[in-house]
Amino acid sequence: MAEFNLFDAEERTLEQAEALRRDVAGSPQPVRDGLDALIEAYGRSVREQRRLVKVSDRLQAQLAAVNHELGRRKAEAEEALDRLTAAQESLVQAEKLASLGALVGGVAHEINTPVGIALSCASHLADSTARMRELFEADDIGVDDFERYMATATDTTNLILANCERAAELIRSFKQVAVDRTTSERRKFDLGAYIRETMASLGPHLRQAGHAVSIDCPGGIAMTSYPGALSQVLGNFVMNSLIHAFDPGTIGAIAIQVDQPEAGRVRIVYSDNGKGISEENRGRIFDPFFTTRRGSGGSGLGLHIVYNLVTGPLEGSVAVEGGSAESGIRFVITLPLVTTPLH
Ligand SMILES: Nc1ncnc2c1ncn2[C@@H]1O[C@H](COP(=O)(O)OP(=O)(O)OP(=O)(O)O)[C@@H](O)[C@H]1O
Ligand SMILES: [Mg+2]
Repeated sequence: MAEFNLFDAEERTLEQAEALRRDVAGSPQPVRDGLDALIEAYGRSVREQRRLVKVSDRLQAQLAAVNHELGRRKAEAEEALDRLTAAQESLVQAEKLASLGALVGGVAHEINTPVGIALSCASHLADSTARMRELFEADDIGVDDFERYMATATDTTNLILANCERAAELIRSFKQVAVDRTTSERRKFDLGAYIRETMASLGPHLRQAGHAVSIDCPGGIAMTSYPGALSQVLGNFVMNSLIHAFDPGTIGAIAIQVDQPEAGRVRIVYSDNGKGISEENRGRIFDPFFTTRRGSGGSGLGLHIVYNLVTGPLEGSVAVEGGSAESGIRFVITLPLVTTPLH
């Protein structure tokens, strides 16, 4: 129909040309030949135009099909992306669950020792007490018996106390591992001032050993984040330097340097010049229960808590750098100045 309308004028011209041919039938031969050639040429041109319009129509139809196909593929790709994102999220959830499972397993394992010792001490004390009661009821207690019992009672209660304290401490650390945003208050604070306050509160530990602490932080960096989490992170670093980096009697140096590598973020570098950490252990220090002090008070949760705090409420990242033997350790933390508010 479109084609008919399109070539209406041409058809009419051709009809007029035919009429003209009839009108000039009596004209000289060259005039008629010239007119024939013109009509013929015009006719060819119209046929060619028709052909071109058909080709163009076909191309347009093909283009529409291709467009349609493209739209379908795009929808498919978007759907695939959605599925991938969902799969990724569930993988992350699964990983979180797996690491939570490992953590719970680890805690159970760690707490098992002190609780087991306390339990066997308590049952030993109960047995001794039952024997004393029998002797007492038989009115047969000798001074020796009583002295032995007093020694047992003293030893076992001391052991029970120490091990219960250890278990309680483990539970306290474990509770910290499970930090979430609700555990501390999000507010605005000056970073430099807050770091200095935190280090001052850790002062007694540091002063006792005589270690030098330097803080290099530009003034006026305002953060809106979780200051409590930040001071817990620094506290863990300091305690680790005291316990792991410096041998008793040696005087070490601790440095905190802050800069702003990009707008909206700060980098806090904590370093000490202590013993450092071996290459093979460096990759594991943020793992829960990794400690080189098992059996002498270390539970290996300190840096795991640091990791959770930095990547959790503080929304940043933490890495350990350098630290090959004798060159000390360097923790690099990058944080946003403003964290996401709780909903
Ligand atoms: N400043 C440091 N210098 C040398 N080694 C360190 C330092 N900080 C941590 N480490 C190493 O990293 C390990 C893990 O530290 P983390 O704080 O997680 O556990 P921990 O201090 O052993 O025990 P916890 O903190 O639970 O009492 C330590 O056992 C130690 O080997
Ligand atoms: Mg520690």
